[in-house]
Amino acid sequence: MNILTLESTCDETAAAIVTDGLEVRASVVASQDDLHRRFGGVVPEIASRAHVERILPVIDETLRKAHLSLSDIDAVAVANTPGLAGSLLVGLVAAKAICVAQGIPLIAINHLQAHVYACRIDAGRDVFPCVGMIVSGGHSSLYRCRGPLDFELLGGTIDDAAGEAFDKVAAMLGLPYPGGPSIGRVAADGDPRAYAFPRALMGEDRLNFSFSGLKTAVRYAISGPGRPDPTSVRLSARQVADLAASFQEAAVDCLVGKAMAAMERVNMRILCVGGGVAANSRFRQRLGEEADRRQIELHIAPPKLCTDNAVMGAIAVERWKAKLFEPLDLDILPGVVRTPVD
Ligand code: KG4
Ligand code: ZN
Repeated sequence: MNILTLESTCDETAAAIVTDGLEVRASVVASQDDLHRRFGGVVPEIASRAHVERILPVIDETLRKAHLSLSDIDAVAVANTPGLAGSLLVGLVAAKAICVAQGIPLIAINHLQAHVYACRIDAGRDVFPCVGMIVSGGHSSLYRCRGPLDFELLGGTIDDAAGEAFDKVAAMLGLPYPGGPSIGRVAADGDPRAYAFPRALMGEDRLNFSFSGLKTAVRYAISGPGRPDPTSVRLSARQVADLAASFQEAAVDCLVGKAMAAMERVNMRILCVGGGVAANSRFRQRLGEEADRRQIELHIAPPKLCTDNAVMGAIAVERWKAKLFEPLDLDILPGVVRTPVD
C-alpha cells in the first residue's frame, strides 16, 4: 500500500511515497531558498508561483525514484493547514487532481502534527502520548499530544516564531538566508556570554515564548536606538560571531526552559521536538543535557526531517488506518486552530 504525500505549506515543494508500515519509498524536496535569499525571508507570492512550477516535476521525480507509477498509489495526502494560503492551495489542488483522476481517497495532513510525527518515524516505534514541541519559521508551540492526531495547545509564541527570530537576526548581521543555519555556523566561533541578551517570560508560569525583545536587543547592540540601519554597520567577524552566539544562547535558553516547564506541567515522560530550528546543534545539545538530567525520553527529529519535507506526511498513515478521508471540496486552513489551556 502506497500513499503519496505532498508538502507545500511554505517555501519547500516536497513529495514522498510512504507505506502503511511507515517505510519511505522515495522523498524529494525542492527548496526555494535561492529565490527568497535576496529578500531575507519568504515572499508569499514568489513561493506560490514557484510551487506551481515545481509541484508536478517533484511528484514525477518521486514516482521515478520509487520505481512506481500513479496507478500504484492508493491515496494522496496533502498538508492543508497551517501555512501560506497561496502555497497551501497549490499542493491541495494537485492532490485533488490526482485523486479525481485515479479514483483514490484524499487525506488531510496537519503540518504541525506532521512535524512532531517526524519523531515517530525516526523512532520506529510509538512515541505517544508526549509533549510535542514545534520550533520552525512560522511556529514555536508546545502541545499535549495524546495521540498522533490528538493535539492540545499548551502555549506558543506571542510574537515572532523562533525561526523567524533567527532569520531576522541573521539579516541584521549580514548573514545569508535562511538565517538559522547561518547563525548556527558563525555562533560556533563566538562567545555566548559576550552580550547579556534578555530571556523573555522565563520567570512566568505561562508556557509562552516572546522573541521580539531579544531581536530588538540584538539590533540595539549593533547600532543603538535611533541609530542607522544595523545592516549598514560594519562589524568584525569576532563581533558577528559573539552576537550570533549570544543571541542563539538566549533563544535556546527560552526554548529549553519552556519545554521543560511543559513537561512538568502535564507530567509526561516523552518529549518530541520537530521543525527547522530543531536542526540547531546548540539547541539539540542543551535539550539533550536537560532531558538526561530529568530522565525525560527525548526524541528530536533528525536534521533532514526537521526542515519541511513530505516524509513527515507519513502521519497520513494514521488517518488511512482510521479511514479518515476528505471530501473533494476540502479547503485550505492557513491559520492555526488554537485551543489554549491556560
Ligand atoms: O520547519 P521549517 O523548514 O519551515 C516552517 O514550517 O516554518 O523551518 C524553517 C526555519 C527557518 O526560520 C530557518 O532559519 C530555521 O527553521 N532553521 C534553523 C536551522 N535550520 C533551519 N534555525 C536554527 N538552526 C538551524 N540549524
Ligand atoms: Zn514546517
